[in-house]
Amino acid sequence: MSAKKYDALFSGIIGEEYDMLNLTCPLAIKMSHLVGDTLKDYAATKTETLNVVELGGGTGITTLALLNASENMHLLSVDNEPVMQNQAKAHLNAWVESGKLTFSENDALIALKNLPNASVDVIASAYTLHNFLNTYRTEVIGEIFRVLKSGGQFINGDRYALDDISQHTRIIQDEIAACFRVLTAENKLDLLEHWVIHVLSDESENHIMREAVALQELHNAGFSEVNLADRITLNALVTAIKA
Ligand SMILES: C[S@@+](CC[C@H](N)C(=O)[O-])C[C@H]1O[C@@H](n2cnc3c(N)ncnc32)[C@H](O)[C@@H]1O
Repeated sequence: MSAKKYDALFSGIIGEEYDMLNLTCPLAIKMSHLVGDTLKDYAATKTETLNVVELGGGTGITTLALLNASENMHLLSVDNEPVMQNQAKAHLNAWVESGKLTFSENDALIALKNLPNASVDVIASAYTLHNFLNTYRTEVIGEIFRVLKSGGQFINGDRYALDDISQHTRIIQDEIAACFRVLTAENKLDLLEHWVIHVLSDESENHIMREAVALQELHNAGFSEVNLADRITLNALVTAIKA
């Protein structure tokens, strides 16, 4: 297989069988709910209609959790992989028709660059930023800070690599073993192959989103109240405020 086939991490079989992967990582659904609950808490402190942007909406799991968080908001859901976003469009059409949801097919950085300074209340995301090249992620964080209003919040439920590298590696080994158990039992060997290759990309030096580095990066961009909570193995919820 060509290297190019693996570059687009959510096209092909991983995108088509994304729901299947939730079997191997049930925490992913819980994290989307945590992201939604965090938006709900933020929205409870506001009276005005919130302008919310989601990065990497995927098949719509996190998108739905965000939409359920508040009656009083508009959500722009960004994802540059049609195999994923088309599933969200099919599931969430009623929200589009109600005017509460808009989709953008741009990549995250371009979508953010298209937004004016201080125009967004909340930028939320789940399991998207860890896929980015480190250099691209740094640019995205800078843009998130720029487009947020004063008092705006960044909410990210994601895979934050442990600072303890040995412990981190043991967790990855356990995850891969569990993935083999589940996907061989389901006879999904193509998906297994692609998922292991995907994990290798996440773990590579130019992608890995390690906790201490990631939190420092948010401080460097200008955020305050940077907080990591609800860690379960590699999954954690990070929030930050633009003062
Ligand atoms: C693991 S999925 C997460 C989807 C959803 N948030 C969830 O938790 O189920 C990551 C999504 O981010 C999207 N994505 C990755 N890199 C992106 C980029 N640079 N710009 C926009 N979307 C991106 C992928 O296409 C994919 O749909």
